[in-house]
Amino acid sequence: MSVQKPLPHDAAALHVTGRARYVDDIPVPANCLHLAFGLSKIAKGRLLSLDLEAVRAAPGVVMVLTAADFDHVPDCSPSAHDEPLLCTGDIHFAGQPLFLVAATSHGAARRAAALGQAEVAEEPAILSIDEALAADSRFEDGPLVWGQGDPDAAMASAAMTATGSMEIGGQEHFYLEGQAALSVPQEGGDMLVHSSTQHPSEIQHKVADALGTGMHAVRVETRRMGGGFGGKESQGNWLAIATAIVAARTGRPAKMRYDRDDDMVITGKRHDFRIDYQVGFSPEGRIEALEFWQYCRCGWALDLSLAIADRAMLHADNAYHLPDVRITSHRLKTNTVSATAFRGFGGPQGMVAVERVIDHVAHATGRDPLEVRRANYYAAAPAVAQTTPYGMAIEDFELHGMTDALAESCGYAARRAAIRDWNAGSPVLKRGIALTPVKFGISFTLTHLNQAGALVHLYQDGTIAMNHGGTEMGQGLFQKVAQVAASRFGVGMGRVKITATDTAKVPNTSATAASSGSDLNGMAVRAACDTIVARLAEFLAERHQASPRDVVFAEDRVTVGGESYAFEEVAKAAYEARISLSATGFYKTPKIEWDRIAGKGRPFYYFAYGAACTEVVLDTLTGENRILRTDILHDCGHSLNPALDTGQIEGAFVQGAGWLTMEELVWDAKGRLRTHAPSTYKIPACSDRPPVFNVALWDQPNREETIYRSKAVGEPPFMLGISNFLALSDAVAACGGAYPALDAPATPERLLWAVERVRS
Ligand code: MTE
Ligand code: MOS
Repeated sequence: MSVQKPLPHDAAALHVTGRARYVDDIPVPANCLHLAFGLSKIAKGRLLSLDLEAVRAAPGVVMVLTAADFDHVPDCSPSAHDEPLLCTGDIHFAGQPLFLVAATSHGAARRAAALGQAEVAEEPAILSIDEALAADSRFEDGPLVWGQGDPDAAMASAAMTATGSMEIGGQEHFYLEGQAALSVPQEGGDMLVHSSTQHPSEIQHKVADALGTGMHAVRVETRRMGGGFGGKESQGNWLAIATAIVAARTGRPAKMRYDRDDDMVITGKRHDFRIDYQVGFSPEGRIEALEFWQYCRCGWALDLSLAIADRAMLHADNAYHLPDVRITSHRLKTNTVSATAFRGFGGPQGMVAVERVIDHVAHATGRDPLEVRRANYYAAAPAVAQTTPYGMAIEDFELHGMTDALAESCGYAARRAAIRDWNAGSPVLKRGIALTPVKFGISFTLTHLNQAGALVHLYQDGTIAMNHGGTEMGQGLFQKVAQVAASRFGVGMGRVKITATDTAKVPNTSATAASSGSDLNGMAVRAACDTIVARLAEFLAERHQASPRDVVFAEDRVTVGGESYAFEEVAKAAYEARISLSATGFYKTPKIEWDRIAGKGRPFYYFAYGAACTEVVLDTLTGENRILRTDILHDCGHSLNPALDTGQIEGAFVQGAGWLTMEELVWDAKGRLRTHAPSTYKIPACSDRPPVFNVALWDQPNREETIYRSKAVGEPPFMLGISNFLALSDAVAACGGAYPALDAPATPERLLWAVERVRS
């Protein structure tokens, strides 16, 4: 069987030789126009007039559009109708598109766009969390509050209490391929859109709306993205709509790709948060009461912010049983770019706060943080079911065994003692270590999104074309699902052709997001394959007077009644016998139900678990720091592909560590993003990968009936990066008596301030 084999990414050779085709690599059709937006320079105000004379007169310009050119300005939002393609009068953030230029080349469009003059009446902008709170500027009427037990009484009776507050920065996706779209007009007003998107059905829906046609008149194709990380779940709408509008109006193909600086300014990022907490605990470090106030900066438009802020609440417990807890979530509206999905979808922000609380409690009680973690873990096999703050019973808790195994394999206890000794003799350099767990909920919290479709064809020569609604962004989804298809037919991978995601083949798909790509599409493809296999088996069984159950598909052959056929012979014979060799497949996730207002139910089908131990060294004179070693044990269930899953874990850890340490977004007092290029925004480089990096899989089957008992892997290991952050906190703590109370990202400056704090 192909599943569970560590096969390389299906496009690995194309990636490394530069031959993988992205939207920008599609040969430009004749007469193609190239687009660029003219952007607002102010964060809030009224657009009084636009002087676009120089833009229209610039070389190569074919068309310039403003909101005045539309009866109804197309909307780009994935949720509410609050994102007009072009400014309709109110300016909401610095970087908002005001006008659109179509020209004969990418360069001509960009140069022309820079010539536009906007007359504006600037107004005071609401930029920060505190400004938004003061102005009561928010989405939804008030904060959302979930919890269980009686946190007030439990807090009052707790032996010890602590309070704290943590700033948690946002994050730029920094996909290597920027946002891009190409629209090609078809006959009769139809539109073909090539889009770098995680969500082709949404692009189809939004483009159809913008063009005033039905979804059946728009076909969206996505072969692959050069990374999405959540940043292409909704943010591609703007480019697809802009190109489709220009293509429809001119009858010419239209293409748009943001320059990197524009991409960083225009598109949403991870939400930054402030999370305040009060915790009551015993001298042994057992949490008795916990209250969180989560302040989430959503930016100017709704986008996916409610679901993201919900997921932050849903991960406020991480791995810990909190019988008396309250979580209050404020979704704040600001004049900044609309924050969007980013790997973990709010989960990381919620989780890092409770890990911070555990660290604080350990410091206050003088205990080893790992001991405090274990003391607060959900029980492995409780006599009475333990529930999360949102009332879901925990039935599959894997972290006791995983923590023991990792602590053992990485030598946690001995290294912790050795670090203490080493630090005692090292006044300037300090080491730190932290072992942190992850429990991440798998399923879309918007229940109806948990469905998928597939389309599989078996050709008469025995080759297979496989299509499903998922998109490939580097994560290896296509290869995993192809392994499923090959396994169902009992054939080698060479027979399975992976085809581009296409709204004309599989309709009404969900975004490839929430790490659910292989869970959902793997099952849908399995269903489609099984339908065809069942038809073949029935056909052969009838010929051989056998039962379909006795027909075996393995190793490119089919055996029945003592006879063995080559797979292609069977395909040919079935075709000639007029058997249908094409099938659709469908899957919906079972067991889930969720009431987001009450904050009660079972939003997740299951949890994915992981644990990481990171050791760092910190220079307390400069704040410079390095990871010395990271050990990870991660739960992918029965991995569909251990090579790809290991790659996901390694990449996610580094991306998570980057978020909490070196990636810093800076807006100035006018709300302009100052870190809008790689020169000012630092993502981890190859050299920031831990020099000792041991990644192992916890190879236990998923307790739920997922595809071959595997588990989703895309997002959960991102949060293993928290171990880097808390190892730095541990190194700072070695400098003095007070709790470091480190904010994120823990840049060298922040580390120096923290060192100063604990020393004074
Ligand atoms: N891995 C790569 N190489 N590139 C990506 O863009 N996106 C992540 C994760 N891993 C991403 C990635 C995110 S945010 C999600 S939700 C999942 O992949 C989506 O794919 P999956 O559901 O197939 O795991
Ligand atoms: Mo991932 S943030 O769910 O695209």
